[in-house]
Amino acid sequence: MNAFNFQNNCLYAESLLVKDLIKSYGSPLYIYSKSQIEFNWNLFKKSFGDHPHLICYAVKANSNIAVLNTLAKLGSGFDIVSLGELERVIAAGGNPSKCVYSGVAKNEYSIQKALEYGIYCFNVESEGELDCIDSVASSLNMTAPISIRVNPNVDANTHPYISTGLAENKFGVGADIAFSMFKKAALSENLKVCGLDYHIGSQITDVSPFIEALDRALELVEKLKTENILIDHLDIGGGIGVSYDQEETINIEDYLNSVTNRVDQIKILVEPGRSIVGNAGIFVTKVEYLKQNNLKSFAIVDGAMNDLIRPSLYQSYHQAVLIDDNSKGINDTWDIVGPVCESTDFLAKDRNLTLEKGDYIAIMTAGAYGFVLSSNYNSRPRVPEIMVSGNKHSTIRKRETIDSLYENESLFEDEID
Ligand code: LLP
Repeated sequence: MNAFNFQNNCLYAESLLVKDLIKSYGSPLYIYSKSQIEFNWNLFKKSFGDHPHLICYAVKANSNIAVLNTLAKLGSGFDIVSLGELERVIAAGGNPSKCVYSGVAKNEYSIQKALEYGIYCFNVESEGELDCIDSVASSLNMTAPISIRVNPNVDANTHPYISTGLAENKFGVGADIAFSMFKKAALSENLKVCGLDYHIGSQITDVSPFIEALDRALELVEKLKTENILIDHLDIGGGIGVSYDQEETINIEDYLNSVTNRVDQIKILVEPGRSIVGNAGIFVTKVEYLKQNNLKSFAIVDGAMNDLIRPSLYQSYHQAVLIDDNSKGINDTWDIVGPVCESTDFLAKDRNLTLEKGDYIAIMTAGAYGFVLSSNYNSRPRVPEIMVSGNKHSTIRKRETIDSLYENESLFEDEID
């Protein structure tokens, strides 16, 4: 399925002309396809077949409550990394008992709240955290379900900023430490050892690092058996890459089949983020000015790095297409840049396009790590998010107003008469 496609040179979001959506909602704008999200999630479900599993969508990729609600209705679980994400999931109708809680810095309060909400499992990232969960659970007279996050020291061959499974990364613990943490947890009255997990990075397009990590995790599972520690589930993390520029990426069905074939009796958890929402969203922006000099040609647009930071932060590539490809403008190789006062403020570089002032450009595959990473830098109100389904559409987050940007600020007390 491809929710965003061209008919007669015009871009559609499901059955709706993007041009018409811009007339209703303005620019810049994020547009998400509900059907694409459902399709992507169902592909995971279908691939697991009847192997016991739980798909825990990684909320950080796109945490809009309409997105979470769409997934909750399918029966999804969630991978959360903060109390804020947990509260969001609940507000969106998600079930806390299907939530796994990852992240290296869970504090006592968030551990307590997560226990009270009855989450599925804590993915524990250090020995200190294990002790903290133990003591919070003990003070509440509860038992905390835990999994230890192992750092398998596998190179995921991805951008260094989104690689998490190398010993030099802050995430998880090495196999030896994990082994001793499992033994310690097994002795505690307030901890229940449920699983083992890992997450080696994001935007991984080759399956071999995943299989290497899986094999290392399974070695540890075997070693734990010698201590009579049996785990109920293995959490293989997220990280499946999407295709940003028609490049080959992992076939989800094949990957999950090779996991379930290797793992007989253990329930599999998976934490996909990007592969659920990435291709389900676009970011639309308007060409305000064209500026050409001897060296470069710039299309200056109304969207910026504060709206979509991926190109600036990870040098990432997103396709940039005209939403109406009948432009009568100037054909050139353009850098698509925004209004923010930074030279890193670009959405795309060196793109051959025919452009004129007033054209609209869609930045494709922007559904994951797009809006969630946006900010108010340069006092720019955050843009709206809308969702479409068939020929229906509605706002799922309204455009921020300028007033709202400073509503939580106040003058220094001395200055108030
Ligand atoms: N599980 C854990 C523990 C994670 O840290 C992450 C992502 C995921 C699952 C989901 O990974 P995914 O399936 O989405 O690859 N902002 C960066 C990506 C950061 C990923 C952080 N962790 C980007 O725009 O590329």
